[in-house]
Amino acid sequence: MNYIYHSDNLPVLESLKNETIDLVYIDPPFNTGKSQRRTQVRVKQSENGDRIGFQGQRYETVNLGTQEYSDNLGDDFLAFMEPRLSEAHRILKSHGTLYFHIDYREVHYCKLLLDSIFGKECFVNEIIWAYDYGGKSKTRWPAKHDNILVYVKDPDRYYFNGFGVDRLLGDERDEPWRVSSSDVWWHTIVPTNGKEKTGYPTQKPRGIVEPIILASSKRGDVVLDFFAGSGTTGDCCLTLARKFILIDDNKQAIDVMRKRFHNERSIKWNKVTPHMYENSSSNLWAHQSARKMASS
Ligand SMILES: C[S@@+](CC[C@H](N)C(=O)[O-])C[C@H]1O[C@@H](n2cnc3c(N)ncnc32)[C@H](O)[C@@H]1O
Repeated sequence: MNYIYHSDNLPVLESLKNETIDLVYIDPPFNTGKSQRRTQVRVKQSENGDRIGFQGQRYETVNLGTQEYSDNLGDDFLAFMEPRLSEAHRILKSHGTLYFHIDYREVHYCKLLLDSIFGKECFVNEIIWAYDYGGKSKTRWPAKHDNILVYVKDPDRYYFNGFGVDRLLGDERDEPWRVSSSDVWWHTIVPTNGKEKTGYPTQKPRGIVEPIILASSKRGDVVLDFFAGSGTTGDCCLTLARKFILIDDNKQAIDVMRKRFHNERSIKWNKVTPHMYENSSSNLWAHQSARKMASS
């Protein structure tokens, strides 16, 4: 089975057993201080439309809905991340790896925090994902990259297979927008009209998550993403035959994932409300369910 939790991630993480997860990929809010918002629209032919196009044909713009989540954790970003990263460290298997996706605003503080939780010797890479997106600036160099910090549970035992990624690259190695086999990855953002677009703000491209899963897990391994958003990690796991656990506390993210995985029978959907953690019998339910998932 695969599992998707509609919940704050901390209580679900706390309910997972020690050393049960092979790979963690997380892409938390970047703490931009703004609300991340995306509205999707479609243009359709209509007699009453206010836009006039080819051969005088009238069109109207139909609003398909807005997806949104708060990206403002204020000065407490590290206080918010610390218990979650400590849990991630506890539940990782000894050969396991954590990929932490962030940007220039918080990466330095997060590196120090991760050093203190995992140990400096467990830091393996900083991947730079460079993209051609975003405006120009008159006051500074425009920021056009994200940072992905890679930490392992045990520097002598961790699993890594870069050959898997080479296979993924295949003959397309020379294309400009491909992940390279170094720590600098050039890849476009999710294209506006692309097939994988879900409309969820800050959705990450499969082309960034797939190489991570291929290189740092094997078929049948359990991959955890506890800031799941539109479910990109789960989508890649389905293609690459990995099991997954996804968590997000935003109902809109869950709705997007329900749509994205609508034909998928292997997923168990769980909604965990705060009161389930307040009294012991509901707490037990959450614990049992999360434990079952980690051992299945
Ligand atoms: C940057 S987005 C993830 C996007 C995702 N990687 C994708 O490709 O769609 C961060 C997500 O974290 C979720 N989130 C923020 N705080 C959370 C918490 N305490 N527990 C669970 N999810 C949380 C937000 O709702 C948002 O969907």
